[in-house]
Amino acid sequence: MRVVDIIRKKRDGGRLTSEEIAHVIAGAVDGSIADYQLSALLMAIYLRGMDDEETAWLTGAMARSGERLDLSSVPGPKVDKHSTGGVGDKTSLVLAPLAAACGLVVPMMSGRGLGHTGGTLDKLESIPGLSVDLDEARLKDGLRRIGCVVMGQTASLAPADRTLYALRDVTGTVESLPLITASIMSKKIAEGIDGLVLDVKVGRGAFMKTAEAARALARSMVAAGAEAGVRTEALLTSMDAPLGRAVGNALEVVECVATLSGCGPRDLEDLSVRLTAQMLLIGGLAMDVPDGERQARRALSSGAGLGKFREMVAFQGGDLRALDEPDRLPVGPQREMVTASRTGFVVAVDAEAIGRATVLLGAGRDTAGAAVDHGVGALLLCKPGDRVSAGEPLVELYYRGEERVTPARRLAAEAFVIGDEPPAAPPLVLEVIR
Ligand code: URA
Repeated sequence: MRVVDIIRKKRDGGRLTSEEIAHVIAGAVDGSIADYQLSALLMAIYLRGMDDEETAWLTGAMARSGERLDLSSVPGPKVDKHSTGGVGDKTSLVLAPLAAACGLVVPMMSGRGLGHTGGTLDKLESIPGLSVDLDEARLKDGLRRIGCVVMGQTASLAPADRTLYALRDVTGTVESLPLITASIMSKKIAEGIDGLVLDVKVGRGAFMKTAEAARALARSMVAAGAEAGVRTEALLTSMDAPLGRAVGNALEVVECVATLSGCGPRDLEDLSVRLTAQMLLIGGLAMDVPDGERQARRALSSGAGLGKFREMVAFQGGDLRALDEPDRLPVGPQREMVTASRTGFVVAVDAEAIGRATVLLGAGRDTAGAAVDHGVGALLLCKPGDRVSAGEPLVELYYRGEERVTPARRLAAEAFVIGDEPPAAPPLVLEVIR
């Protein structure tokens, strides 16, 4: 099989066979196919697309390119959740302990911040001492003892994705539906889970700006999961405004603890409970969504979810005193309020603009591997629907250094749209895709 023939076939709009796809993935992992040929094929896929079957073959070949975790020695249904990325989206840190408190096993392998969106690992690492680098033995130990861990991807899982993602990043081929599906789902399938809930974000602060694009991605990922024997369901949820009030690593951890203590922002609590319910349903522990929501709310009000979060933080080496005394978290030393220019109702808070403002403050990274400042970010004092008076604080910026806050201040102010009428409240879940 010659790689150049496979490239030509896809370039001309042909359909690849499972053998051709397997050949390419094997060559990507053992280095026998040159980066320039892989890049050419990625561009051909970007331009010509793949049908559902090709996408499933690609996903399967990438999932098999490394080890697949065998979690059969850990009792209980194993269910994970994956979000396509949002601003202030900290639901993973709330729902993993809630789901564990309800009896699920949650081996959550998360990522780092990407572009203007935050990453769960960066957030969790703002807790002093906490490590997200767990090997397989530690992962299983944590799952047996607590029921949830949140960790980084191990090197042996889906190594083909690392090679292909690095090339996509520098060849303008990230935004391809079959390539995104195969990238995300190959890693999830290799985790050895029984079920997966996808939170596909739609709107200003999401990578998918329209419901059509988000629906197409959700359908493609659900089909790839089903093909691999992982029960997968997707919820389309709004990412026009940031979720909750805190955006920025340590600030978001504080908000997660507040939410698990029953005093977090309503939108964050409701979405975390809804996603937990979907996980319980997929894992066979709930009869339906209302039953799952009841169980999740019970775990919240009894403090069982907070208890699991504390156990997980301690297991991963984190200093529990930082959860009780947030002053021990590295929260930014300088603070500044951005105020309303007029009286009215907050009509919109542009999640992407807030996300970009916090990246400018140092909460995210411009280049892969760069360090993040865990202490900086934004705390929204007003959300869509709130009434404000001219001069009233809208958002508090936490920062380090004047040179960073000046551009961030402008972006944060521009994120708020104030009008004469309150906006309609968006539904919590736009659509469920099974
Ligand atoms: N996240 C991934 O892991 N892969 C993609 O292709 C996009 C987002």
